[in-house]
Amino acid sequence: AARTRDDLRCPIVVIMGHVDTGKTKLLDKIRKTNVQEGEAGGITQQIGATYFEKSTLLTQTARLNETEKFDLTLPGMLVIDTPGHESFTNLRSRGSSLCDVAILVVDLMHGLEQQTIESLHMLKNRGTPFVVALNKVDRCYSWKTCKDMPIREALKEQAEGTLQEFRSRASDAKLQLQEQGVNSNIYWEMGDDDWENSDFVPLVPTSAITGEGVQDILLLLCQIAQRKLWKQLMWCANLQATVLEVKAIDGLGMTVDVLVVNGHLREGDRAVFCTLEGPIVTEIRGLLTPPPSREMRIKSEYIHHKEIKGALGVKVIGNGLEKVMAGTSVLVVGPDDEVEDIKAEVMSDLTKLQDKLSTDKKGVMVQASTLGALEALLQFLREETKPPIPVSAIGIGRIHKRDVTKISIMNEKGCPEYATILAFDVPIEQAAREQAEEVNVKIFTADIIYHLFDQFTRHMEHLTE
Ligand code: GTP
Ligand code: NA
Ligand code: MG
Repeated sequence: AARTRDDLRCPIVVIMGHVDTGKTKLLDKIRKTNVQEGEAGGITQQIGATYFEKSTLLTQTARLNETEKFDLTLPGMLVIDTPGHESFTNLRSRGSSLCDVAILVVDLMHGLEQQTIESLHMLKNRGTPFVVALNKVDRCYSWKTCKDMPIREALKEQAEGTLQEFRSRASDAKLQLQEQGVNSNIYWEMGDDDWENSDFVPLVPTSAITGEGVQDILLLLCQIAQRKLWKQLMWCANLQATVLEVKAIDGLGMTVDVLVVNGHLREGDRAVFCTLEGPIVTEIRGLLTPPPSREMRIKSEYIHHKEIKGALGVKVIGNGLEKVMAGTSVLVVGPDDEVEDIKAEVMSDLTKLQDKLSTDKKGVMVQASTLGALEALLQFLREETKPPIPVSAIGIGRIHKRDVTKISIMNEKGCPEYATILAFDVPIEQAAREQAEEVNVKIFTADIIYHLFDQFTRHMEHLTE
């Protein structure tokens, strides 16, 4: 069938922003759930996924659409929740790499915070369009609750003092965005030129608790998807799917949460997954999703499917999934495919990373716990360090003595500063530590990416003094 503008898949929307800005609460508001209150310490520690049906989008934007009269044709929307805590840079990086459009959530009372800025740069680097939610608008002084109302109607109900505080905080946020190189404006004050400019960012005041502005942000996302992203959203039969998470579930064994962006996945399909030890081929024994408007990371009454169609988050059941790497692609062996070709293609994410290594073979070694973390590290070294720090070797998992021996060659190559291992969230064998002493290799460890770079930068400064 021809791909047409009338057959779009669900857009994938990722929610990003600093810890406690209200990302999960915003989703709870739309889902009518209480996921956030069940989280340990109220902190999100995993990537989540929630599918909203078209009917939900229609009812939750009905009031605003009385005036907007937008012809909503999308089949639904898939929303990815991410953690804002600083130690989950890898999950934010994975989330931002999977989405079509993003909501960057700012706490209106705090303005732009560190991980909001980090998220913003991830989105800019990938050229992902995004809207900014100026959340917690209900905390403006003596805010009058207008439950679930479109934001302009709610603002009309506020006293002058409340409006003054709102305007002043919104314009502070605008200035802070400007400092990050982002032009923005309250969305209904944007001119035609601003809408034409793909770098211009709409601001939407919201409250995840009392619901003002939630209609606005939903409708705005649908409008952006249909008007600006329709080309990339045209549904196609080729499977495009990524592993979100690998986890054991009581009664189901090891399962893999897969984000199916496009194409189909069917029970009985021969699926190919990427592991560090090479590709694995396994038959799909089950496809489970939570009900619509329910969070995938919360155990629920799963719905069993014979076949699912992207975009959707799905839990895949099969044998031998223990070593599947999060962040890698999933493919299916079709009737006309050579299984070896599919295996090579599935492994190409890892091979591509290898290709990004320093071509003159001089550079540090980078070791991380997951492919997503490794990607985030490499991206950071390339884009956020000046001059970029070259990388000559990469790895995932525990650091062995042989890794130390390998990178010690930098001493002989006349660049002792690169006889260094940057280790993110991985254990180091005792023998590796001893070997490092012996052959003059520095190992820097951290479970927060920025701490790793701080240490390494200080080390480099020390060497060049
Ligand atoms: P992480 O996932 O841990 O990064 O946090 P988050 O961004 O998902 O924020 P979360 O939903 O956990 O909300 C953090 C706190 O802010 C909770 O106590 C919420 O009740 C509160 N909160 C969130 N949104 C609003 C809002 O719009 N208004 C008010 N008053 N409180 C809010
Ligand atoms: Na939180
Ligand atoms: Mg959260």
